[in-house]
Amino acid sequence: MNHLLLDVLDGRPVPRPPVWLMRQAGRILPQYRALRSGMKDFKSLVKHPSKAAEVTIQPVDELDVDAAILFSDILVVPEAMGLDYEMARTVGPIFPKTIQQPDDINRLDKGDEVIQRLDYVFSAIYEIKNRLNGRVPLIGFCGAPWTIFCYMLEGQGSKTFSTARRFIYTQPEAAHQLLEIIADISARYLTEQIKSGVDVVQIFDSWAGVLGHDMYMEFGIKYIRKILLNLPANSRSIVFAKGAHASIEALCDLPCTALGFDWLFSAEHIKAQVNGRKVIQGNLDPAVLYGNPELIRQRTLTLISSFEKDHILNLGHGVYPDTPLEGVRHFVDSAKSFRYESM
Ligand code: CP3
Repeated sequence: MNHLLLDVLDGRPVPRPPVWLMRQAGRILPQYRALRSGMKDFKSLVKHPSKAAEVTIQPVDELDVDAAILFSDILVVPEAMGLDYEMARTVGPIFPKTIQQPDDINRLDKGDEVIQRLDYVFSAIYEIKNRLNGRVPLIGFCGAPWTIFCYMLEGQGSKTFSTARRFIYTQPEAAHQLLEIIADISARYLTEQIKSGVDVVQIFDSWAGVLGHDMYMEFGIKYIRKILLNLPANSRSIVFAKGAHASIEALCDLPCTALGFDWLFSAEHIKAQVNGRKVIQGNLDPAVLYGNPELIRQRTLTLISSFEKDHILNLGHGVYPDTPLEGVRHFVDSAKSFRYESM
């Protein structure tokens, strides 16, 4: 077994940082596109445990990354609660039904049936663990309550998420009620993923950056904390709150193992702020991977050297769909050629 990711999360010394990429499963691999084009739609693939397992393992085979991430989506949770979504080819996710008023929250499903409806995820995890047979650890995930709330209110992506932000100012009690429900379901969902075999969980707060610090404390971090406090003891967890630059101090207080960062802050700045309290994941600008091999190598090695230790190498956000596979390979291979001892 390649233990690098677990070693760094558990505080054991490692010869080099483990490397994986957010959104490595799907998007960039021709094998994924081939498999995907044979399926009716994105959701049929997500709900097909053995095909989802295959897509999860593709980047491990093709790129030799140090971890696999479950092929699924953060939106399976609102779907299981009764808000169906469609994945439109060009626009991304669309929810025909959204939360518009406090009463809509009462109509959502919140009991055990929600977790039961996600059984296909747990079946995929069993299958992935079997097929990986210990090659690399498996990362499970969910969306943070704030980000799921954004999609439930907005019904699709948005530059500003102003509908969701309007709701927290105009209907704060209903907003808290909904965030509480999402956090509760998410904690049970991640717990079940861990029981099914994932080695690490990551919470994606993709839209953390649309809230100011005080609102992010009240409507964002509070509910991430709630999830983390309800995971089994000694679970390994990574919190990726994209754009939450005003709240690094509060993120460091969360009971998680690692924090993911986007690429806007330098490694030196992040390291100084975190000050050894958490393992750090990140944070190469995904656009570096469009560059030539030498640029990718230099940028990758400089980043690793700047973090020095307690570091999981990743991009600062998901790999972009049109990234050349060669760029991804140079990134992974550069990381693998590095040794802390030769610094
Ligand atoms: O990391 C991985 O590769 C594992 C699988 C994964 C997917 N989505 C598969 C996917 C993960 C971890 C996600 C997380 C996710 N989904 C997030 C948080 C991470 C982030 O990027 O900020 C968000 C916000 C979503 C919601 C979502 N799903 C959007 C906005 C879209 C459309 C645009 C896009 O990102 O591709 C999706 C679709 C989606 N999810 C695809 C894949 C492989 C593409 C769908 C297709 O094949 O047609």
